[in-house]
Amino acid sequence: MSDPSRPRASLRTAVVWDVLKDALDRRVKATGRESLDVLDTGGGSGRFAVPAARLGHRVTVVDPSPNALFALERRAAEADVADRVQGVQGDAHGLFDVVERGGYDVVLCHGVLEYMDDPAEGVANAVAALRPEGVLSLLASGLGGAVLARALAGHFTEARQALSDPDGRWGEGDPVPRRFTAEQLTALVEGAGLRVGAVHGVRVFADLVPGVLVDTEPGALDALLKLEAAAAELPAFHSVATQLHVLGETREAAEA
Ligand SMILES: C[S@@+](CC[C@H](N)C(=O)[O-])C[C@H]1O[C@@H](n2cnc3c(N)ncnc32)[C@H](O)[C@@H]1O
Repeated sequence: MSDPSRPRASLRTAVVWDVLKDALDRRVKATGRESLDVLDTGGGSGRFAVPAARLGHRVTVVDPSPNALFALERRAAEADVADRVQGVQGDAHGLFDVVERGGYDVVLCHGVLEYMDDPAEGVANAVAALRPEGVLSLLASGLGGAVLARALAGHFTEARQALSDPDGRWGEGDPVPRRFTAEQLTALVEGAGLRVGAVHGVRVFADLVPGVLVDTEPGALDALLKLEAAAAELPAFHSVATQLHVLGETREAAEA
């Protein structure tokens, strides 16, 4: 039996959460403020927004989906942080129709660029929402991870299609509209005027390992989480990760 305090879902969030929590803690120290203003664009049901609010931060979630915002409200209430989480219906393209420009210490943009017609505009808007000393947490689907997963499932033609497709899609049935390499994501972050603080590969092995190995072997989940954490930092594994996380900092934040 795996440790119940480390449920399997943590394989999807652990690496990103560790990087994000560390970035939030560093901002708290640098600003001297215990409670930061956090914006989660495309924050959905609050997978990261609610844990951030549990640390004491005020989180605004912008998402176009009423269902996601409803789920967010429920999740925030269950975690007893409803007073620190605000859900707003809106879109990352028209972000400043619904939130203040330059008003946030940390902006999250997780799993959203894939769905945007203009990812560069999405990143530029996220950056424009930051205070002069601010940090961007960007998470997006990785091209190489999808190629590897299709190939290991025996879908060799689809794997090759994803490699040559300009959007990294493996075919008509691919549910993800766009994937990125680490170079493309860091170029988007730098193009929007930030410094890249760190790049992490997320879910390098988790999606490739048969679930039964993780669920039945004692200690396997913990060992896999530690392996994911160790590989996440190594550039060699970025090219095969299911997702890529980039931490961007304004120049003022990087120098603080
Ligand atoms: C894969 S989910 C990720 C949710 C959340 N960020 C997380 O990491 O759990 C993608 C979210 O992006 C939202 N979304 C899609 N297009 C968007 C857009 N143009 N602007 C803002 N959010 C968008 C969806 O409604 C959905 O909640």
